[in-house]
Amino acid sequence: MENTENKKVMLSGIQPSGALHLGNYLGPLRHWPKMIEEFDCYFFLADLHTITVRQEPAALRQQTMTLLASYIACGLDPEKCTLFIQSHVHQHAELGWVLNCYAMFGELSRMTQFKDKSAKHQENVNGGLFTYPCLMAADILLYQPDFVPVGEDQRQHVELCRNIVQRFNGIYGEVFKMPEPYIAKVGARIMSLNMPDSKMSKSIPDGCVYLLDKPEDIARKFKRAVTDSDTERCVRYDPENKPGVANLITIYASVTGKSYGEIEAEFEGKGYGAFKPAVGEAVIETLRPIREETERLLKDRAYLESVYRNGAERASYVAERTLRKVYKKIGFIQK
Ligand code: TRP
Repeated sequence: MENTENKKVMLSGIQPSGALHLGNYLGPLRHWPKMIEEFDCYFFLADLHTITVRQEPAALRQQTMTLLASYIACGLDPEKCTLFIQSHVHQHAELGWVLNCYAMFGELSRMTQFKDKSAKHQENVNGGLFTYPCLMAADILLYQPDFVPVGEDQRQHVELCRNIVQRFNGIYGEVFKMPEPYIAKVGARIMSLNMPDSKMSKSIPDGCVYLLDKPEDIARKFKRAVTDSDTERCVRYDPENKPGVANLITIYASVTGKSYGEIEAEFEGKGYGAFKPAVGEAVIETLRPIREETERLLKDRAYLESVYRNGAERASYVAERTLRKVYKKIGFIQK
């Protein structure tokens, strides 16, 4: 698969440090299968990034394979995009080192994620946690993407990457293409089922629906979803005053394709008792084929291995070209 049609290049990485949940799926992930038709896409599992925080080796291995299988099950056809595991492409670590030397201590100190994570893991404020954005910049720049879809929380890291590009190109000429962050406007913002003021996340386990949850667990989580303590108890989209119900309406709309108006009409006079299980059912049916396909793929090790090997081979080819160019510009002797 070569980019012969001069498609624009897109790249995105995700850390295999936890399982995918409904918020990931209804946000960006669901739109990726369409994007691989239009763009030359690189998707990788950022395992090198996960070890800035201690990981249990067996769990890391398992999460990486599960994430790979889930990606494919969600429609990322490995024939149509480059799907790989970061640590298989050694150029990431190499360019990461180089970029360390072109990022400033002060710049790195200002990263809010560094400040947050070092406050949270005070026993392990390691160098990797601090220089993480340099590795992320390397991930991006090796493939010269036109844009990088990221969540709001990663915007600052992409900005730092852009500063590095400017600094590096200022010294050596046009080596790197300037990447554009792409803060997705498509896709829904899904909140926690039991704390609808916070985004759905694995750090609030009860309010988080995983892609691989069993149907009965999904049903239970939706039955227990926080609605609102207002007295009218009607299904109406009002995110200000009824954030819990609004979140459920957003989820129901995303999985059924119905409009908010249609949903309000459907549950007119029925109250939350009918609404919550209906949302749960709709989510169960949406996730069922993904879970089944993920489970099937996880049993087919040989196939998964062929996917990540091919992916790494394709990725290395492009990454090596960039790395050679960088080494040459810097003044390293070519081998
Ligand atoms: N830092 C990203 C996250 O934690 C993951 C990531 C690593 C990434 N490298 C990247 C995202 C390159 C986009 C591009 O979510």
